[in-house]
Amino acid sequence: MIIGTGIDIVEISRVKNATVNWKDKFLKRVFTNKEIGYSKERPYSYQHLAARFAAKEAVLKAFGDGWNKRVEWTDVEIWNEKSGKPIVKLYGNVKKMKEKMKVDDIIISLSHTRTYAVASAILVRNDKI
Ligand SMILES: CC(C)(COP(=O)(O)OP(=O)(O)OC[C@H]1O[C@@H](n2cnc3c(N)ncnc32)[C@H](O)[C@@H]1OP(=O)(O)O)[C@@H](O)C(=O)NCCC(=O)NCCS
Repeated sequence: MIIGTGIDIVEISRVKNATVNWKDKFLKRVFTNKEIGYSKERPYSYQHLAARFAAKEAVLKAFGDGWNKRVEWTDVEIWNEKSGKPIVKLYGNVKKMKEKMKVDDIIISLSHTRTYAVASAILVRNDKI
């Protein structure tokens, strides 16, 4: 059963500007080392960073009340499977929200062009028979 969905779109230039202006301070506050590493290994790093930014927003929107709790950007982390498929790892208060709302799975999808990155997140609760 789907119990929440979230979507977000991010201008890649905004993530680029924040990185250029604030350097490590911005990157470390928003992204995990894994996310930074994944993005920096690729030729268009900002597209991947912006997609991860959108993914974090999409996941929090899917939870609905995410904004009322103290959450860190790094509480939502995006990994990629060998095939490239993105998956979500949660920590801290977002992980607690997942447990409280009895969410069993989060399905995430990312896409990016040269100018925009988008992400959608779907919260799933397994039906108990
Ligand atoms: C997934 C795919 C459709 C991406 O489409 P695209 O138009 O090139 O790029 P988009 O900007 O729309 O999407 C990129 C995002 O797709 C996601 N993605 C990549 N592979 C994926 C997969 N197998 N399943 C689901 N999502 C995937 C990633 O999140 C990626 O963004 P990220 O690298 O920042 O995490 C394309 O790469 C594809 O057909 N892959 C098939 C699987 C494949 O060939 N794998 C090769 C390695 S085994």
